[in-house]
Amino acid sequence: MGDLDGKVAIVTGAGRGLGRVEAIALAKQGARLVINDLGTTSVGSGADEEPAQQVVEEIKAFGGEAIVAFGDVASWDDTAAMIRKAVDTFGDLNIVVNNAGFLRDRMIFSMTEEEFDSVIRVHLKGHFCSMRLATEYWRKKAKAGETVYGRLVSTSSEAFLFGSVGQPNYAAAKAGITAMTMAAAQAMIRYGVTANVICPRARTRMNDSGPYAALFAKPESGFDVYDPENIGPFVAYLASPQAQRISGEVFVVWGKQVTVVGRPTLETRFENTADAPWTVDALHQQLGPHFQQREPVLDGFSVPPQ
Ligand SMILES: NC(=O)c1ccc[n+]([C@@H]2O[C@H](COP(=O)([O-])OP(=O)(O)OC[C@H]3O[C@@H](n4cnc5c(N)ncnc54)[C@H](O)[C@@H]3O)[C@@H](O)[C@H]2O)c1
Repeated sequence: MGDLDGKVAIVTGAGRGLGRVEAIALAKQGARLVINDLGTTSVGSGADEEPAQQVVEEIKAFGGEAIVAFGDVASWDDTAAMIRKAVDTFGDLNIVVNNAGFLRDRMIFSMTEEEFDSVIRVHLKGHFCSMRLATEYWRKKAKAGETVYGRLVSTSSEAFLFGSVGQPNYAAAKAGITAMTMAAAQAMIRYGVTANVICPRARTRMNDSGPYAALFAKPESGFDVYDPENIGPFVAYLASPQAQRISGEVFVVWGKQVTVVGRPTLETRFENTADAPWTVDALHQQLGPHFQQREPVLDGFSVPPQ
């Protein structure tokens, strides 16, 4: 098969969209797959085992190995059962691709508590549950003197980079996922486990209606930039032995491009020249001219301040 021969991989939310493509890409490299999905609608309601089952059948049809782990990624018990099922069925766990999630978009001034809580829960806690339990598993193995092969791939979004005006809950969850993955990368480097973040862009039901539908539409001819298939090989690469030195990185991935996001830097420093604490006037004297010239961070829908 390929680079991942015999490795055991969990992909969450793999019943459709990006997760399905990523699971198939891993299986084509020889990984044995645990297909998690709760089978919800795009706003997170309902539950259906069928999408996960279908992806298992697709993988088996080309000679791969896969099982279903139906469940909610943000449930501690469901995640523990999923990890147990991977280890009991295939004998180990090597790769966890966190991908499951849904949207409940609303402007900050209209968002309900429920819209906020549910999106933070599925994305941020969803990532936490499996990262927590998988890293514990790998750490225990390492402490017992066993060889560890561990890969974590988290799914963030460009929404976290610049804010996303109609998605304050989602942007916050994706920022949290990025920070948590950085912490995991630092904690796990001594065990040889890598942790990286992808910010994908692809045509799925998340964007097949609404303001971005036209951008994501399939072209009549030529390369299909937003085909979800474009993301699969990069996830398989991050999961591979060749990517051992890549950890704690954030990538924007779509079309034919992979972009490494720069590490945050401290940009402009101001220092009080007086031998005293800052005063409001002294701050304005120094910071005022700087922010007079600086462009505010805006996305395409926002109106600049006057
Ligand atoms: N499509 C894009 O352009 C894009 C851009 C940036 C980030 N993302 C991220 O990629 C990931 C996949 O999104 P997609 O576009 O493929 O959407 P999708 O709706 O096609 O797939 C998401 C899957 O997650 C499952 N799911 C939802 N809640 C779950 C839960 N509690 N437990 C288990 N499974 C659950 C759904 O059933 C669904 O199959 C998400 O994290 C999304 O935020 C997508």
